[in-house]
Amino acid sequence: MGGTSLKQTQIVHTEEELRACIAIRTKVFVEEQNVPLELEIDEYDRSPDACIHVYVIQDGKPAGTARLIPYDEDTAKIQRVAVLQEYRGQGIGGMLLTALEGQARAQGARRCILDAQLHAVPFYEKQGYVKLSDDTFYDAGILHVRMVKELNE
Ligand code: COA
Repeated sequence: MGGTSLKQTQIVHTEEELRACIAIRTKVFVEEQNVPLELEIDEYDRSPDACIHVYVIQDGKPAGTARLIPYDEDTAKIQRVAVLQEYRGQGIGGMLLTALEGQARAQGARRCILDAQLHAVPFYEKQGYVKLSDDTFYDAGILHVRMVKELNE
């Protein structure tokens, strides 16, 4: 973990916080992974309350972000999990998932689902997610598999 550096998870409430999250996603998904910007940004990014966006601040700087969208009555979907390259491997990705799982639970969801890029499957498995099946599919040109985690009370 990241030594003595201070990390905090926050929920996005302002346009400025949302812009910081989108800047992280642009660096990670658009610049690093070549996802087209028009696929990366959608209606859930229109305003801070279009869905639940969270971010982690490390030493005063936004370092990672993720969002939660409704899926069905019992299920919420985690999307856009991104940690800036220089902040990876210090537990920030795990903090983002934990925060969104707490939000999902508070909304009455019983499980979270997500579509994992294949390279990130071991990361999600460490956080308690399991593959729904071995079926893989392309999204934005990247191979994914759907994963699920049942939320306990
Ligand atoms: N493969 C295997 N294990 C991984 C991993 C990977 N690609 N990324 C992280 N882990 C492991 C870590 O070793 C750590 O294990 P530990 O708890 O035993 O130490 C655990 O997963 C938690 O890692 P954490 O430090 O919280 O993850 P992170 O902050 O580095 O974030 C990602 C992980 C995937 C979000 C980050 O690498 C990232 O932003 N990648 C680019 C964007 C991306 O692909 N997002 C996923 C889209 S589905």
